[in-house]
Amino acid sequence: MKNVKNIYLVGFMGTGKSAVASELAKKLNRRFVDLDELIEKREKRKINDIFTCSGEVYFRKIEKEILKEASFPTDAVVACGGGIVLDEENIKQMKETGVIICLSARPEVILDRTSRSNERPILNVDNPKEKVEELLKLRAPFYAKADYAIDSSQLKVSRIVDIIIKDIL
Ligand code: S3P
Repeated sequence: MKNVKNIYLVGFMGTGKSAVASELAKKLNRRFVDLDELIEKREKRKINDIFTCSGEVYFRKIEKEILKEASFPTDAVVACGGGIVLDEENIKQMKETGVIICLSARPEVILDRTSRSNERPILNVDNPKEKVEELLKLRAPFYAKADYAIDSSQLKVSRIVDIIIKDIL
């Protein structure tokens, strides 16, 4: 294994970032960080409430601050929220302090996985299918900035972790 700094898991909602990051951290004996969890802890409220009461712009500001704080020391596996890549400075921060791995999945897989909870304000809309397709198109160029990409549609978490350890690190 090369001497990598932080390992950032990015990608659309429902692609398995948190599950993969948590298992990868365990296997590598590294610090596990879930940015959404840290945001909720800091704000003492759920992501849904932050979006509803304070808006997305406010959420993105906190997300950026938490990313900066969580980047050090550089020994972590970090599960990022799906929109982290939309800010160029976040990408810069992640590249300077580690490696970025993007998980992807087919739209129908994303819809199936995300329909199991209503904790994602961005998908709490009348037509989530349309929203997922629209956002996937819009965000594709941002996710493409990651250093590596893995399609998680048909892979178990443990298999993705193995791929990362064997082929990337
Ligand atoms: C978001 C994804 C969510 C969370 C917030 C916004 C997004 O995280 O940060 O609801 O803009 O894609 P997950 O990708 O972990 O669901």
